[in-house]
Amino acid sequence: MKAASRRIDSPQTAPHDDLVRRVERARESVWQRSPAEHTRAAFANAERWLSAIDRPLILDAGCGVGLSTRQLAERHPDCAVIGVDRSEDRLGRDHGALPENALLVRADLVDFWRLAGAAGWRPCRHYLLYPNPYPKRAQLKKRWHGHPVFPAVIALGGSLELRTNWAIYAQEFALAVSTLCGRDAPVEAFTPAADHLTPFERKYAESGQTLWRYRIVLDATLESS
Ligand SMILES: C[S@@+](CC[C@H](N)C(=O)[O-])C[C@H]1O[C@@H](n2cnc3c(N)ncnc32)[C@H](O)[C@@H]1O
Repeated sequence: MKAASRRIDSPQTAPHDDLVRRVERARESVWQRSPAEHTRAAFANAERWLSAIDRPLILDAGCGVGLSTRQLAERHPDCAVIGVDRSEDRLGRDHGALPENALLVRADLVDFWRLAGAAGWRPCRHYLLYPNPYPKRAQLKKRWHGHPVFPAVIALGGSLELRTNWAIYAQEFALAVSTLCGRDAPVEAFTPAADHLTPFERKYAESGQTLWRYRIVLDATLESS
């Protein structure tokens, strides 16, 4: 029997009323803390790999066990796909050999994104697939769009895609992008392909939950501080 996955339980019934203020503050703020040494080392490895393979970059941010990284690499053989996750346990699970155009990196995204921006990376596609929702009101700052790193994520440009099982997460994400760069794109309910891009997608879809997707093609002109 398949385990049912619980729906998001949140006191919020609409986007957080402090979101726009937080995003504007993140845009104005200057980052003080230097990236951690272990993330610098992981980024340097990724940079060497990317430079050697010399193909357009696809970033799979928060890739978990890396199944989406593998699938994206197979779907886009002309691209280099980097999956980043901080969980050694998830990245270490055996899901078979990686395609030659895929790399899994253990790193904290907050620092990895900043290093990517500083190095001039411009992913052609950037995926945030089922990020942790942090559904309590006080957890807004932990959601990616409420986090101070968000302007750096948007400044990377490319075609950005968020998937989530919480409509409000997607609506807030869309509002945060709109606040930063004055661009709008719809939040849509969607039915995933039968081969599911990630384990979380499979789990939510098999439990009958509605899945939400937000996609926007960003230009890379927004500077991050
Ligand atoms: C809910 S899981 C989704 C994993 C995968 N995308 C999927 O759909 O199966 C969220 C993932 O984000 C990762 N994550 C959360 N915060 C992170 C951070 N600051 N840096 C890197 N990975 C992070 C977690 O380790 C976890 O694997």
